[in-house]
Amino acid sequence: MNRRSSNIFRRGSRAQASQRLADATETLERARGLDRTIRVLSTAVRRTLRPGPLKDTLHGVPFGHPAHTPLTDVPIGCWMSSAILDLMPGTARASQALVAAGLAGAVPTVLTGIADWSALHREQQRVGLVHASATATASMLYSASLAARYQGRDGAGKAFGFAGLTVLLGGAYLGGHLAFRQAAGASHADQTSHLVATGWHDLCAAEELPDGWPVHRRLGYISLFVLREGDEINVLADRCSHLAGPLHQGRVTTDDNAETCIVCPWHGSTFRVRDGSVVHGPATARQPFFETRVTDGVVQVRPVG
Ligand code: FES
Repeated sequence: MNRRSSNIFRRGSRAQASQRLADATETLERARGLDRTIRVLSTAVRRTLRPGPLKDTLHGVPFGHPAHTPLTDVPIGCWMSSAILDLMPGTARASQALVAAGLAGAVPTVLTGIADWSALHREQQRVGLVHASATATASMLYSASLAARYQGRDGAGKAFGFAGLTVLLGGAYLGGHLAFRQAAGASHADQTSHLVATGWHDLCAAEELPDGWPVHRRLGYISLFVLREGDEINVLADRCSHLAGPLHQGRVTTDDNAETCIVCPWHGSTFRVRDGSVVHGPATARQPFFETRVTDGVVQVRPVG
């Protein structure tokens, strides 16, 4: 075998290994054996974490995007830095401080992750459960590492730390799959600026819209939520920004300022119909909205932004 063909062979083996990893993770998405545990845990989380400001904050509503993902940087960053220091002489105290900081950072990371996990699709929850188990195991190993370091057993502390980092990286891979392959945390609303031309578009006859009852209409490629209240007509993208639930099947309500809102039928995200802003999560991204006007009895819409 010449050098060129052996290089091709090695590249092929690496590609097969990474494909096997992706295949194994996709198998996890279909692992129905996890469903009983998921049902018990997600019911417990929903009973404990009632709708309100705390739940909204854990989802990241005040920040406009999920809080969990950026928070994971704290424990991962601290513990990776600690591992590097553990390979250098004279850095025991600094490494110990980083292990402790990582454990402190893990607390809000876990809480935000649990809140988000409780409002995901089942396939996402299966991957999320294994991701959470791996990161919980890593946290326990780092707790043991910190305890050993406090007792002056630096060798054991380093060993627990490297074991924790190994498990953590596995958990982080699953977190990446959850975020990027399964799009947990990304906005699922239609990208109206790419799908609808700028300017005004005819939508439907004004007289066919029921008063106070949301309906579904199509505009080219996208579905719209349309609500008429008297002379006022509000239009949003219909696919909920959380996980694409159909907003036109939701419940109409009002916020604390008596502004009309729509509650998504899937996980209860609540949006103001006037401008699509988020009142309650789990959604964190504003729902795309449209300006409206009535011309010669025809409702016309224009995308905003
Ligand atoms: S799809 Fe989850 S709240 Fe709308």
